[in-house]
Amino acid sequence: MPATRIPAKLLAWYDVHRRVLPWRVPAGRRADPYRVWLSEIMLQQTTVQAVAAYYRKFLARWPDVKALAAAKEDDVLAAWAGLGYYARARNLHAAARIVARELGGRFPATAEGLRTLPGIGGYTAGAISAIAYDEKQAAMDANAERVIARLYAVTTPMPKAKPELHAHAQALVPLRAGDFAQALMDLGSAICTPKNPACRNCPLKADCLAARRGIQEQVPVKVPRMARPLKRGAAFVARDRTGAVLLVKRPDKGLLASMLQPPLGPWGEKFPSVRAALAQAPFAAKWKKRIGLVRHGFTHFELEMEVYVADVAKRPQTKGKWIAMAKLGDAALPTVMRKVIAQGLSLDKSGV
Ligand code: ADE
Ligand code: SF4
Repeated sequence: MPATRIPAKLLAWYDVHRRVLPWRVPAGRRADPYRVWLSEIMLQQTTVQAVAAYYRKFLARWPDVKALAAAKEDDVLAAWAGLGYYARARNLHAAARIVARELGGRFPATAEGLRTLPGIGGYTAGAISAIAYDEKQAAMDANAERVIARLYAVTTPMPKAKPELHAHAQALVPLRAGDFAQALMDLGSAICTPKNPACRNCPLKADCLAARRGIQEQVPVKVPRMARPLKRGAAFVARDRTGAVLLVKRPDKGLLASMLQPPLGPWGEKFPSVRAALAQAPFAAKWKKRIGLVRHGFTHFELEMEVYVADVAKRPQTKGKWIAMAKLGDAALPTVMRKVIAQGLSLDKSGV
């Protein structure tokens, strides 16, 4: 079977087995570029499962690009809280403002045009233009990359292989570019799984070099992840008599930009001694160190924090805002800071 049959076979499979996902339109219908864009930004570095609820929440609150452009950045960050990679939320909001205010509310209809918007790189531009406009562009999530790596038995390690995989996929894109993109993703999710791919049920088995060579489980090749450095520090959870918690806003650049957190000390190789930690606290009080620690993995390092807690009768004069317990759920708190607060208040992880 010539390789050119791959798209037709994959599309035939997709027409029967396609996943129902909140951002997908029924077969043959035009997708709304706003929804495609929103979902593709959320799906960068995040699983379909984690994204679904956030996608629905955003769409209910900001049903179109004008509504999102009119939102306050802090509200967008708060709604994004828990999804991670918060630069995406800030870029999302910035891009919405550009589309609404400078482009008359219409998204660019080409990958080239989409790329000019904040938060849209080359691959995401391809995905949006393929899915929303059927532009002949490949779209590669981790599932699609795995399928292509196996079909062509690409043994270059990831992530170095990305351009090679993209070029293979690009050469296959048929007229139904959007369906093809999502078909590759669905095949990777359902059949061409990381472990034990179901090659016997795969519509592309006859075309697959890795399966022919029996190396499908070894592809794509991953270079072992470098050990991430460990940073440590103290966190300070202050609670007033009503149960409100003191939060400060992070700088508008860098890690977790513009998100909220309890006051933190600096991060170093070791935890500060109790004495040193008390000198880092936002104000003098009867700070008590909680037993245990909070650990969180960031892209480039691991963070461990010891949590100090203080109950104050009167709110001291200090930077930040006191946020009522009941409002913490809606605050722009990243997951790691929710863990810190839960630890400080001795709640289980679902507590904040
Ligand atoms: N990952 C990235 N984009 C996706 C999409 N449109 N459907 C499913 N998974 C995806
Ligand atoms: Fe993946 Fe197996 Fe299909 Fe090849 S034959 S694409 S390895 S499921």
